[in-house]
Order: sequence, then structure tokens, then C-alpha cells
Amino acid sequence: MDVLFQPYPAITFRTIGGILDFFVFLGPTPEDVVRQYMQVIGFPMFPPYWSLGYQLSRWGYNNLSEVTDVSQRTIDAGIPYDVQFFDIDYMEEKKDFTLDENNFENLPNFINDFQKNGRKVVIILDPAIPSNLSLKGKYPPLDDGLSEDIFIKLNGSILEGE
Ligand SMILES: *[C@@H]1O[C@H](CO)[C@@H](O)[C@H](O)[C@H]1NC(C)=O
Ligand SMILES: *[C@@H]1O[C@H](CO)[C@@H](O)[C@H](O)[C@H]1NC(C)=O
Repeated sequence: MDVLFQPYPAITFRTIGGILDFFVFLGPTPEDVVRQYMQVIGFPMFPPYWSLGYQLSRWGYNNLSEVTDVSQRTIDAGIPYDVQFFDIDYMEEKKDFTLDENNFENLPNFINDFQKNGRKVVIILDPAIPSNLSLKGKYPPLDDGLSEDIFIKLNGSILEGE
């Protein structure tokens, strides 16, 4: 569908067919429009309170002690701080579902201690699996994905990114 804003007050819809349902929210204020829209689609889920708090997320930590230092400095400075993220640094060679046993060995302990104080930890995963064939037979996410044929395809071959 192609939508063109014409000179005010007009709009043009060009479609290849189908049924068009139009809902017009008259407001008059933007807040009214949001309210009217919610009456049609329903209300969104209320997010957990902790997710509204201050969160510390960064890519590029070398090891867990660096994160622990940053975390402790933040707490010592009295900065409100509810969530610590771990970006893909914690992985072994940035492979999803692995843990870098040299530099992030104690991550499970960090998470347990950190969460004791009501804080939360978010572990980042990227939606891609390394396809390096030398990993075949050694990396279950790749092996299972290949045998279950779950990867996205482009022209019949597995779609590979950079
Ligand atoms: C962690 O990384 C920092 C920054 O590269 C380095 O100075 C420190 O020695 C490392 N600590 C450990 C325990 O490897
Ligand atoms: C594939 O993985 C092996 C082992 O981790 C590594 O030595 C090699 O450089 C990787 N090849 C590519 C193209 O990333």
C-alpha cells in the first residue's frame, strides 16, 4: 500500500486490493487521539516497575571485574541503579548461548549477588548464530539449527550476515 500526503487536508491511498477498514480519531487533542486509539486496540501491557528504573548498559567490557568495578562505583556514588546489562562481551567469541570462561567465569555469582538487592540483570543475545563451518559438531546452536532447518533462507540458501 502506498500512502501519499497531499497538500493539506487530503491523503491518497493506493493499494493492490483487499478490504480497507478506516478508523478516524477526531481528537481534538493528541491525548484524545491516543485515548480513542486505545479504545479500539486495547491497552498495552503495564511494564514491570524495575524496567522503568535506571539501567546501565554498555558494549566493550573486557572482563567481569571491570563490570563489577563500574557497578560498585555507581552504587557508592548513590546513583539510582536498577538494572545491569551484559552485552555480547560475556560470550566466548561472541557466540550466543556461551560464556567466556576466562574473563566472565564468575558471571553466575555476580548475577546472584546483584539480584539479592532487588536489582535485575539483563543478558543480551543477538538474533544470529555463527555459521563458521569449523564449529560444526562443536556448537549445538549451529548443529541443532541446521538439523532442524530453522534458519532464515534467501533464494534457498541460509541467509548469512557479516
Ligand atoms: C580486566 O580488564 C582490565 C581492562 O582491560 C584490565 O586492566 C584488568 O587487568 C583485567 N582484569 C582481570 C582480572 O583480568
Ligand atoms: C572459524 O572458527 C575457527 C575456530 O574458532 C577460527 O580459527 C577461524 O578463524 C574461524 N573462521 C572464520 C572465517 O571466522
